[in-house]
Amino acid sequence: MQESEIVDQVDDTPVARTAHAAVPVTGYAGEGLPRPAATRVMVVANQKGGVGKTTTTVNLAASLAMHGLRVLVIDLDPQGNASTALGIDHHAEVPSIYDVLVEGKPLADVVQPVVDVEGLFCCPATIDLAGAEIELVSLVARESRLHRAIAAYEQPLDYVLIDCPPSLGLLTVNALVAGQEVLIPIQCEYYALEGLGQLLRNVELVRAHLNPALHVSTILLTMYDARTRLAAQVAEEVRTHFENEVLATAIPRSVRISEAPSYGQTVLTYDPGSSGALSYLEAGRELALRAVVKAGDGRHRAGAAVVPPRSGAEPSAPTAQHSSMEGNR
Ligand SMILES: Nc1ncnc2c1ncn2[C@@H]1O[C@H](COP(=O)(O)OP(=O)(O)OP(=O)(O)O)[C@@H](O)[C@H]1O
Ligand SMILES: [Mg+2]
Repeated sequence: MQESEIVDQVDDTPVARTAHAAVPVTGYAGEGLPRPAATRVMVVANQKGGVGKTTTTVNLAASLAMHGLRVLVIDLDPQGNASTALGIDHHAEVPSIYDVLVEGKPLADVVQPVVDVEGLFCCPATIDLAGAEIELVSLVARESRLHRAIAAYEQPLDYVLIDCPPSLGLLTVNALVAGQEVLIPIQCEYYALEGLGQLLRNVELVRAHLNPALHVSTILLTMYDARTRLAAQVAEEVRTHFENEVLATAIPRSVRISEAPSYGQTVLTYDPGSSGALSYLEAGRELALRAVVKAGDGRHRAGAAVVPPRSGAEPSAPTAQHSSMEGNR
C-alpha cells in the first residue's frame, strides 16, 4: 500500500466521517471572516520545486472566498498549474498574465471568474509566459510591471494570491515588488529548509531597494505526515526558526488534495469533508484572523468588517470596506 493511501485513511475515521457529513450542510465555512481594510497581496513563493505552492495558492484562495471574501489568484508560473486547478482554460490563445506583463494589457481584460467558487477569480498563465523572463529584461520598469497592473485593477478585492514559479527570476521579483506579504509553503521533508536562505535574502533585497512594505508574514507546513518522526522534526525546526510566522495548522499529505487538480477543482469543492479540505479551510481562517490580531503593527486595521460566509444564496456585495488597489502603496 502506498504511503499516501495509508495517510488518507485518516479520512475514514468516525470524526472525519462526521465532519464529512457536516461540512456540506454548514456550507463549508460556517462563519464569516474579517475583511482586511486594504487588499492583502500575498506572494506564494519558494524556489524549491514541488513543495505545494500552487496547491496552497488555489486552496487557500478557495477557503477565503468560501468564507465570503473576494479573492484573485494570479498564476505567475508558465506551467499554468494554478489555472488548471481552478478549471480555467489556459491554452496558448487565451489572454493571460503574459499579455499583462509584456504587452501592458489591463489585468481586468484577462481575469476570469472561477465557476465553482463564488467570489474567486483567476488571472491565467499560458505557455507564452515561459519567454517572459527574457522579454521583460529589455522593458521599462521590468521589476514593477505586475505591481502597476494590480494597482490599476479597479474591482474590489480582499486578497490577491500570486502563485510563483520555482525560481527567483524576474517573474518572482515582479511578484515580490507587487505584494506586501510573502507566504512560504514548506514541505515537511528532508532538505525542507535548503534554499530558504536564498529566498529570504531576495526578499531582503527587494525590501531594501524596491518595496519597503515587503515581509515574510506566513509560513505553512505542507504534506505533513503525522506518522513519521521526520515530519515532526522538520515541523519543530521550522517552528523554532519562524516562531511568529508559522500557521498552527499544518496541511496533511492527502490523496484527495493531489487528485483535485485533475478534475479542474480545488480540494474544497472536490471533497469538502476530506482532511485536506478541512485543513485548508482552517489555514485560511487562521490567515485572516491573525491579520486582525497583528493589526496593531499598522499594516492591517483591527475590527475590520466581518462578512457572512458564502453558504447562503446572498453574495457579499462590494462595500466601501473594499478599497481598490490604487493607493495600496
Ligand atoms: N498536502 C498534499 N498531499 C498530497 N499531495 C500534495 C499535497 N500538496 C501538494 N501535493 C502534490 O504535490 C505535487 C506538488 O505540489 P504543487 O504543484 O502544489 O507544488 P509547487 O510548489 O507548486 O510545484 P512547482 O514548484 O512545480 O510549481 C503535486 O502533484 C500536488 O498535487
Ligand atoms: Mg506550482
